[in-house]
Amino acid sequence: MQTTFLSEPNPKQAVSLPEKSLVTLTVNGVEKKLQLAPWTTLLDALREYMNLTGTKKGCDHGQCGACTVLVDGKRINSCLTLAVMKEGAEITTIEGLASTDNNFETQLHPLQTAFIAHDAYQCGYCTPGQICSAVGLISEGRVRTADDIRELMSGNICRCGAYPHIVDAISEVMQIDTKA
Ligand code: FES
Ligand code: FES
Repeated sequence: MQTTFLSEPNPKQAVSLPEKSLVTLTVNGVEKKLQLAPWTTLLDALREYMNLTGTKKGCDHGQCGACTVLVDGKRINSCLTLAVMKEGAEITTIEGLASTDNNFETQLHPLQTAFIAHDAYQCGYCTPGQICSAVGLISEGRVRTADDIRELMSGNICRCGAYPHIVDAISEVMQIDTKA
């Protein structure tokens, strides 16, 4: 059998890793400037560099939807997106959905209110992703029936099986009859 000996890498040939680069994102209406390694996902940028831990890391492979956020109004899995690819984008996370009224009272987003009213969660781990995904779903304008909601929310997995109540909550906000 022939044995191959691997030599030490030649420092002259070694590939140097790219430097961190400046990334500017507007997150929940606030401009953020971050020095990030180019391989930092948007999910890690939110959770590790901005302390916005409402966005959850489930699978980290685009399969569960727990990391769903809105980028320029469109829902995406933030674990599958590099932060540098979203330079200049507007990001909305679960922390940015509520608003403040003239009396400085917090007003929940209608979907947040509906999720509470319909008990649309158990452990709550999937809930930020479910709600952000539902915001994106509504703005896509493709839903006509409760079955459409089930189909178009299928990328958001709920280990607790709260699906019927999630569909009820979204249906209420969209004024869709779940019995039809
Ligand atoms: S953590 Fe992104 S899809 Fe699961
Ligand atoms: S409420 Fe627990 S995973 Fe959905």
